[in-house]
Amino acid sequence: MKKILKRFLIILTSLIVLIAIAAFIGWSYLKSSFFTFEKDYLDHFNIKELTIEGYTFLDRNGNNRLDDYEDDRKSIEVRVKDLVSQMTLEEKIHLLKGSGIASAIGMNEPGDGIPGAVGTIVPTPRLGIPTVYLSDGPAGLRIEPTREGEDRTYYCTAFPIATLLASTWNEALVQEVGNAMGKEASEYRIDVILGPGANIHRHPLCGRNFEYYSEDPVLTGNMGAAMVNGIESNGIGTSVKHFVANNQETERNLNDAIISERALREIYLKGFEIVVQKSQPWTIMSSYNKVNGTYTSESEYLLTDVLRNDWGFEGLVMSDWFGGRNAAAQISAGNDLLEPGTKKQWDALLEASENGTLSIEAVDRSVSRILELILKTRKMQNQEYGNNPDLKAHAKTTRLSASEGMVLLKNKNALPLQNTRNIALLGITSYNFIAGGTGSGDVNEAYTISLEKGLENAGFEINEAAKHVYELHRSANEKSFEKAEGIEAMFTPYTPPEMTFTAEQLKEIVESSDVGILTIGRNAGEGGDRVEIDDFLLKELEQEMISSTTRAFQNAGKKLIVVLNIGGVIETASWKGQPDAILLAWQGGQEGGNSVADILSGKVNPSGKLPMTFPIALDDHASNANFPQEGGHLTYTDAISGLLFQKEERPEAEKVRNRDYTNYDESVYVGYRHFDKANLQVSYPFGFGLSYTIFDYSDLEVSLSNGMINILVNVENTGQIAGKEVVQVYTEKLESTIDRPVQELKAFAKTGILEPGAIERLSIGIPVSELRYWDEAGGEWALEKGAYMLRIGTSSRDIRQIEEINL
Ligand code: BGC
Repeated sequence: MKKILKRFLIILTSLIVLIAIAAFIGWSYLKSSFFTFEKDYLDHFNIKELTIEGYTFLDRNGNNRLDDYEDDRKSIEVRVKDLVSQMTLEEKIHLLKGSGIASAIGMNEPGDGIPGAVGTIVPTPRLGIPTVYLSDGPAGLRIEPTREGEDRTYYCTAFPIATLLASTWNEALVQEVGNAMGKEASEYRIDVILGPGANIHRHPLCGRNFEYYSEDPVLTGNMGAAMVNGIESNGIGTSVKHFVANNQETERNLNDAIISERALREIYLKGFEIVVQKSQPWTIMSSYNKVNGTYTSESEYLLTDVLRNDWGFEGLVMSDWFGGRNAAAQISAGNDLLEPGTKKQWDALLEASENGTLSIEAVDRSVSRILELILKTRKMQNQEYGNNPDLKAHAKTTRLSASEGMVLLKNKNALPLQNTRNIALLGITSYNFIAGGTGSGDVNEAYTISLEKGLENAGFEINEAAKHVYELHRSANEKSFEKAEGIEAMFTPYTPPEMTFTAEQLKEIVESSDVGILTIGRNAGEGGDRVEIDDFLLKELEQEMISSTTRAFQNAGKKLIVVLNIGGVIETASWKGQPDAILLAWQGGQEGGNSVADILSGKVNPSGKLPMTFPIALDDHASNANFPQEGGHLTYTDAISGLLFQKEERPEAEKVRNRDYTNYDESVYVGYRHFDKANLQVSYPFGFGLSYTIFDYSDLEVSLSNGMINILVNVENTGQIAGKEVVQVYTEKLESTIDRPVQELKAFAKTGILEPGAIERLSIGIPVSELRYWDEAGGEWALEKGAYMLRIGTSSRDIRQIEEINL
């Protein structure tokens, strides 16, 4: 017996030792391959100031001379050239990839780097070139809010999601939001913000739609450019992502988007093209997926022919995190920087440069672009940073921008609230507002204002009976109300069960309140797509809650308002007839509850308009025939196998539709372009949004000069409340000989606040060249001659003024 026990103990100990050794080897491998492999290139160096002939400069390479690259009176071009000439091949190769993901996952030593920054451009210590920090993302800066050994916090402002910002149709406002984000980056020493996202909402279920602006490229491009201009006005770079056609999260690391050249140019590339034209961003991020057989980060056609040769992009292209397969092919194609960088990529680049598969010209080209960015950073100008952004001022910016992008979908004399003191809040989300989506588009904010708090702040009384039901429900389901934060939230979806009411409870709530507000919440994020059942479609409990509460309030002569705290489109047609009002609040950032209260109370007159169509059914979308429907969220295994170790592609014959490849059979017929062409009813059309006032359009004047269509139109506030209006300009080719959309958005403008009776004459210009289509046969943009109708509308399906022009 003793012998057996002894043997057992020996085996057990050996097993434990073996496991420990394996874990140690595994961890060492991970660490040296992905986390920290930069030991010889740390930027802890001292640089001396030197003064020569009255000019003081930083002697970065310590040679007691003023080199061209150290002389900031010289042009960036001259400085870059000098630097390239001084760098060894090893130093150049070193610069082409980041330093790993240690800081992204909080593996910083105290006092070292910026915890939460997801990537770097590595330093070149010999030449005194510092580290450049890259950090997410589209709704505000995403760095770690706390640091080891420090008492203070590093919170950032959670601004509204991009979809909400697009719903403002207000470029100046979006630029202001960008400006605030840029200021936070600059205060926290981040050099490049990884955003905005400019992918198109091809299908409502894409899990990352909240990070993107619209189903339309003109709205996308103009919003993206405004954001870039706002951020970059602070000397902070942007990375416009994900170039291109990252329209689904399912198998995003290897999905091959099969798209016609025309759909690419007119829809998927167009938004990026406008961003480049109007804001020349410092960087663009290539996407994970392939387009027509080639990973975008390895596509010379996309990265060099289109982006640089056709559009004149001057910045650098970086890969998405661990994106692409062949490091040398990426650099050769024009993907200048590999992020976050791995040891394997470093070795592969060294080998390719030695064996000639990676030319020195390609290396120098990419290195020059990277150096140009480094020289542009505030860091190289020795600018101060205080680690102290004005979070209060930015909270005001986010509150204001969020209320401007919320869309009033229905209002049967229910809003703004009048004679209302006591509000019954129904639905768990009213008490737990969702600020934004999950994944890299998330922000570590200090707080989120719920609808409950927002209404309280606005002086309303929260109904105790309703709150009591919520609290009982919450304590009965404590576990499921625990919300994972930050990166954890990507792997752990937050789906607490919806609350229910007994007839007596509802009776008491209705009797003791003046109005009911029911919030429906949805959250999605990076790494997974949404599904139809229980997500696009309301859950049974939600349907039931809308019906029962509407009935109860209306029977008592009171109103029931639905608030949608969602990041993407949901089904509305089946239930929208019931409540008295519906406010699409989107996910409004950390001040969301205050912004909603501003609209409900009438402090702000809603002026948001839909940046996408709300269809009756998912299947009404032409893209539904080719979109993954199984959804799912990111798992730890996916993250490790997909990102770090790059999942194997399946053999050709075994490839699975909508996972390994997706056919974009609908071509250019995305969103309203399809609904109009197929003459389909929709629940709410593209561009739709109500106001508390009424606007009249008149005196349209259209003229043509120097290749421009000039439009003048009057907008008059004929209602009783001051407000803003969004004017949309669509063009329609009359008697077209090619297959093209019925109408396409070409421009838009927003009035200032118009007092009742006030008129604003808006002036809108459209270059004639914007009316061209992509001619597949000729491989170029072509203008169809003849008659076009200019359609000026308050939505895509409410056209107020038309005028024919001849081109
Ligand atoms: C996302 C990017 C993000 C990057 C860094 C990737 O997984 O696709 O949008 O910027 O991670 O966090």
